[in-house]
Amino acid sequence: MPTAQDLGDDRPIAMLTAYDAVTAEIADAAGVDVLLVGDSMGNAVLGYDTTLPVTVDEVASRTGAVVRGVDDALVVADMPFLSFGVDESEAIKNCGRMIQEEGADGIKLESGPHTVALTERLTQLGIPVMAHLGLTPQRINQLGGYSRQGTTREAADEIRDLAVAHEDAGAFALVLEHVPANLAAAVTEELSIPTIGIGAGPDCDGQVLVLTDAVGLSDWAPSFSKQFGDVRGEMAAAVEDYVEAVTEGSFPADEHTYVEEDL
Ligand code: KIV
Repeated sequence: MPTAQDLGDDRPIAMLTAYDAVTAEIADAAGVDVLLVGDSMGNAVLGYDTTLPVTVDEVASRTGAVVRGVDDALVVADMPFLSFGVDESEAIKNCGRMIQEEGADGIKLESGPHTVALTERLTQLGIPVMAHLGLTPQRINQLGGYSRQGTTREAADEIRDLAVAHEDAGAFALVLEHVPANLAAAVTEELSIPTIGIGAGPDCDGQVLVLTDAVGLSDWAPSFSKQFGDVRGEMAAAVEDYVEAVTEGSFPADEHTYVEEDL
């Protein structure tokens, strides 16, 4: 069983999100190193427009499902909006629940100046923390959209400083989302913990995508994402075939049917 400390030793890290046991099992068997139970579940599978309505209970329940589907991959629970940053003991309870009750290997915090001390405290308590800088979607109401971050010298310096502060506070890895590739490369060079990029170019120590985007299940995906399959198309075709078979009466056929002779 890998630990957070094993990440990024010899080759790029492949990380994906997962929100249920069956996709976690498939991703784990395919060799994914880290499964993030992302609060992106809000948009990806729960039908919300943003990640903001996602609750601690939703992340907890889905973290347990992902853990049950996995043999090898590291499972990281993504702490939802306002589950941290308001009250320290509440944050520790919420993060600890993912480890103690659901079996996660670590938690992720959308990070900023307010998460440096919390990262240190959680790490001291034995809760591995993945930091997340750049585009942090829980700030959508301040950002006004999902645009690239760190595009000015000042903003880039702030990300670099916060990256170092979170490494110093004990974070075991850092997600860099939607930042210029040269900024991600500079941060990666500067840190000794692994960086995992999404829309951050090729020079991070690993990459992460939202699973439903990567397999082609989402109806929309950001331009920095790549669709490696057409699961939406496959699923639509399978369901259409099913509906047709039921409505024309060809399903269930003899091979799907059992008759008890003595009745
Ligand atoms: O919630 C999520 O899926 C994430 C990744 C995009 C890093 O935070």
